[in-house]
Amino acid sequence: MHPVLSPTTLLNIANEYGTPLYVYDAKCIEHQYKLLAHTFRRNGTRIFYACKALTNINILRIILKMGGGIDCVSINEVKLALKAGFEPSQIIFTPNSVSLEEYIEATNLQLNINIDNLSILEAFGNHFGGTYPVIIRLNPHIMAGGNIKISTGHIDSKFGISIAQAQEIKSIISSTGIQIKGLHIHTGSEIKDIDVYIKGLELVLELAKDFPTVTVIDLGGGFKVPYKKDEEGTDMEALGEKVAEAFSKYKDETGRTFELWFEPGKFLVSQCGYFLVKANVLKHSPSRSFVGVNSGFNHLIRPMFYDAYHLITNLSNPQGDLKTYNVVGNICETDTFAWDRELNEVRPNDILLFNNAGAYGFEMSSRFNSRLRPAEVLMEGETKKLIRRRETFDDLIEGMIF
Ligand code: LLP
Repeated sequence: MHPVLSPTTLLNIANEYGTPLYVYDAKCIEHQYKLLAHTFRRNGTRIFYACKALTNINILRIILKMGGGIDCVSINEVKLALKAGFEPSQIIFTPNSVSLEEYIEATNLQLNINIDNLSILEAFGNHFGGTYPVIIRLNPHIMAGGNIKISTGHIDSKFGISIAQAQEIKSIISSTGIQIKGLHIHTGSEIKDIDVYIKGLELVLELAKDFPTVTVIDLGGGFKVPYKKDEEGTDMEALGEKVAEAFSKYKDETGRTFELWFEPGKFLVSQCGYFLVKANVLKHSPSRSFVGVNSGFNHLIRPMFYDAYHLITNLSNPQGDLKTYNVVGNICETDTFAWDRELNEVRPNDILLFNNAGAYGFEMSSRFNSRLRPAEVLMEGETKKLIRRRETFDDLIEGMIF
């Protein structure tokens, strides 16, 4: 079990820094990193944090300190990683639907490059020939993940080069001389079923037989972390064993070994983040009770966007009678964080805690309704550190030209 911050600590932080507020726990991120490294210890594994989950530079530095790398989907994420202190060799650039110019910018920075479509592969090959080996992202035609919006490896997904297009890849190799150093798949987010990983791995290993220059297999991210009480995440120990077995069987058959890379986002940071809000309004209509809080989907979009469940607790009234509420935000749209949720009785000004808010929380926030983004605090042991100040009206108008 990962370390958790106590309700008293969180309440003190809310009182000190105000709400809405994101809080992260460095110890927990370190714990998750070590757990992952231990899971895949048998396979010379490298972990690249998918920083789209949470890019605050202080979080990136925790990963750097742990010895990890970074998976980036945009040049700006790359710039953040470089600013945090990562070497280009510790960065994978895994964009989609970007221009050749953006890939060329990535080559100027000497990053590991992951290409996810045939036309760019060909253009890249024509430009660089065999001088800049790349990884290719494959679409394995596997439906997986917690929700169709976060499934990326099925046949209708925009991601990756179809596994059925191996012939086209080979033609591009022979016409351009491009060198393929790695094969990559990422089938989705919140994948509990370990057979999905094994099936994906087997497909990739089979394909690697046709690509003798491949030395890296990248299995992406997507490990499931529990969001609900009593829910289970991916069985990491079993997955580690099965992956090791598949590699060793392959080595026996072919004599080949690979570096194994992963790019987890949620697994490293989701459970290590908390979101604190304040109850502004209690409204009891004939059909239900609403708690209106000082935040909205502009700060945590996951419930409205993916029907995601985040465990909520009332930190201010832990002994209060249990009552059922719809927890709603202050955005001028239907803006529901939780439907029919049992909480200890909520009173105006009570502090509510959303769990599992480290991944895709702050990172997907916006200034919709001209509301400002929350501040972020990092706990490093007993030390609290403000790692992003609360925004002000001046931030809102900063880029506007009057
Ligand atoms: N690698 C690639 C190529 C990805 O596209 C992603 C996530 C990851 C790794 C990391 O996946 P993770 O380990 O975090 O599941 N905003 C959604 C999740 C979208 C994930 C997009 N790609 C959510 O809040 O559920």
